[in-house]
Amino acid sequence: MSRFCPVYPKPLKSKASMFLMFFGKRRSWLDGLYERSYRMKMGEIRLPGLELYMVNEPSLVRRVLVEQAAKFPKHTLLGKLLQPLLGESIFTTNGKQWERQREMMGTSFAQTRLKLVFPLMKAATTAMQERMDRLPDGVDYDVDVEMTHVTADIIFRTILSQTLEGETARKIFDAFTRFQSLTPRIVNQVIFKLPRLFTPWLAIRRSNAAAREIRSHLEAFIRPRYDAHHRGQPGPEQDILASLLDAVDPDTGRGFSFDELVDQVAMLFLAGHETSASALAWSLYLISMSPEIQERMHAEAVAVLGGKDPDYSDIKQMSLIWNVFRETLRLYPPVGFFARQASETQTMRDKTVPAGASVVVAPWLIHRHRDLWERPDEFDPDRYSTDSAKESLKCAYLPFGLGPRVCMGATFALQEAGLILATLVKRYRFEPVPGHQPDPVGRLTVRSENGIRVRLIKRKEGDSAAPAPAASRAPASSGCPVAHS
Ligand code: HEM
Repeated sequence: MSRFCPVYPKPLKSKASMFLMFFGKRRSWLDGLYERSYRMKMGEIRLPGLELYMVNEPSLVRRVLVEQAAKFPKHTLLGKLLQPLLGESIFTTNGKQWERQREMMGTSFAQTRLKLVFPLMKAATTAMQERMDRLPDGVDYDVDVEMTHVTADIIFRTILSQTLEGETARKIFDAFTRFQSLTPRIVNQVIFKLPRLFTPWLAIRRSNAAAREIRSHLEAFIRPRYDAHHRGQPGPEQDILASLLDAVDPDTGRGFSFDELVDQVAMLFLAGHETSASALAWSLYLISMSPEIQERMHAEAVAVLGGKDPDYSDIKQMSLIWNVFRETLRLYPPVGFFARQASETQTMRDKTVPAGASVVVAPWLIHRHRDLWERPDEFDPDRYSTDSAKESLKCAYLPFGLGPRVCMGATFALQEAGLILATLVKRYRFEPVPGHQPDPVGRLTVRSENGIRVRLIKRKEGDSAAPAPAASRAPASSGCPVAHS
């Protein structure tokens, strides 16, 4: 079976329950979506302290993210929330400051730099394989944890030429985990401007302490290289920090200051591993439920790679593996929504959107929109050869964003995902764990509340799939009329 409807939170029947979501301690914004959210062109939420417009219609999405992007800067709450960790990094700044940073960082993610860092990516993937080879055959395994480990390791290696196995890198990683787990508790306070009485002081204090700890460790890595660079004695590293040290402002001819470098490196760590980890873990869940797709991926990896290690150009040739990742990003976009703020009053459809209002574009909704995709809730990586899906891709697919703020690391992420998935399906088979169903929640990224556990089977020479036990396989589908909760 290649098609099925993977799990997602059952939409509420009506919008009235939104109020409960905000004040009834619901776990994540995905739980507050209702059936019409997946059909509407534009929606509106008004709560004390909040005026929010949700935009799904492709022409409005283009207006917000592309055509009039400057009139819809990134929401100030994002900057406020992430400031203790990311300072003034490219992810949250706007206007001239952002333009300068984007221009200076361009070469760090150009093809030439990606080719240079590919061996570092590959080394982290080999380390992942060695960890997995040490596990017993048939073990039930949380791939969410492993994908977080390998993507963080890749970021450490490609940005700083450090491995995650080092003690300091491990401390940074642990502090990041703490920072992220505290963020959701702070978000509601910031978004809904709740009275001081509701301020989660302890969570804020802990999250600020985690941010300070991360920055002080990063400073210790960056300082010697920054000083050496300014003495005219750069080291031999070919990593992304080396290109950030070389970057110059075209107007002033000056490079990034030390603090700016720490801001950008902290941001790259956050933006670059959490997103990829989410998408890769969901990919493994999806293929564990689709033995037929998984066997075809295995055959493709064997045909392209044979007995050798993957190299940079191999990755592009694995079209099914690409399509599986593409379909995963559609069903579980790691960045589930983008928050912008109208800088002036605008008319959108029949609504007047006042200056200062929040304008949200949610790939989660657009990628599952009933009018924009055929069989929107169904996992079907083969759909991309159809005219209908090609059309949907053009107007209703934006896992990396759109317009000037589009993800800088998209090519990096695709290369990394292709490498990891090809390595995994070539060597192992993934089966569902009976009784385990992931539970999607929308936080900084879309993750599973209870992890993503799969059964890991080590392939032997000439091995092909044994069908998964009937009880644990996904239900057959002919269009998924009803969402699974
Ligand atoms: C599957 C993996 C990834 C996904 C789905 C993803 C998604 C996104 C999205 C949606 C945005 C734009 C958000 C908005 O418009 O509000 C973004 C921005 C960004 N991403 Fe990624 N990302 C991924 C991986 C990476 C990686 C690996 C890096 C770097 C190593 C990276 C670096 C950035 C940067 C620097 C920005 C800010 C760009 C700007 O504002 O000018 N991302 N990403």
